[in-house]
Amino acid sequence: MRQPLVAGNWKMNGSLESISLLLQGIKAGMGDVKRAAVAVCAPAIYLPAVQQQLQGSGIGWGGQDVSAEASGAYTGEIATSMLKDFGCQYVIVGHSERRAYHGETDELVARKYAAARAAGLIPILCVGETLDEREQGVTESVVARQLDAVIQLEGVGALADGVVAYEPVWAIGTGKTATPEQAQEVHGFIRQRVAEQDATVAEGLRILYGGSMKPDNAQELIAKPDIDGGLIGGASLNAADFLGICTAA
Ligand code: G3H
Repeated sequence: MRQPLVAGNWKMNGSLESISLLLQGIKAGMGDVKRAAVAVCAPAIYLPAVQQQLQGSGIGWGGQDVSAEASGAYTGEIATSMLKDFGCQYVIVGHSERRAYHGETDELVARKYAAARAAGLIPILCVGETLDEREQGVTESVVARQLDAVIQLEGVGALADGVVAYEPVWAIGTGKTATPEQAQEVHGFIRQRVAEQDATVAEGLRILYGGSMKPDNAQELIAKPDIDGGLIGGASLNAADFLGICTAA
């Protein structure tokens, strides 16, 4: 039985003051969260503050991106060891915003996945198609290509140490959620593709949905057999909304 995971991705939002209020609100409502594991992925500069507030709370935290390199002359980058220094358990790799605005390729994302895994972080690997790709009918081949980059570099066993997040780009921040059926179709495809190589890894793999998930659509989505939680953007910035999703999971 896979334990659902609900992870907030704050993206480039918040201030020291607002995240403190947000975390207080989330912590206060955690008693109602019976089943899901909960985590927040914060802007790197706020990770020390997040660590201070979440230590011992049962809520996990992580980064939104990480370098594939261990250390060195990479101005502006953050290494896996630095995330570990501040108690991170998770890190998002390959978010579509990183792919689109920072030119991250499948190969680079796979290297980031490998670096995170080697450091003992749980990588949350984001995959998903654009609207154009969906309309062209190539959703499955896009998702397969993104997934296969990790499998080719590290072997299918590497997926036992991570989490996959299916995030259709057209549903991110648009208020346009994939229907539970549309999401399940792709989640089922991902699990099947992994199962072709290793049934045990596939069975244990958590596949999160991301894209305008809200308290009022979370239950229906997470009820699908291959949807194991959510990667939440906008709704993770509001304690009541985030908790609503966490309790629905
Ligand atoms: O990482 C989170 C996703 O990009 C979803 O964002 O919930 O604002 O649509 P959203």
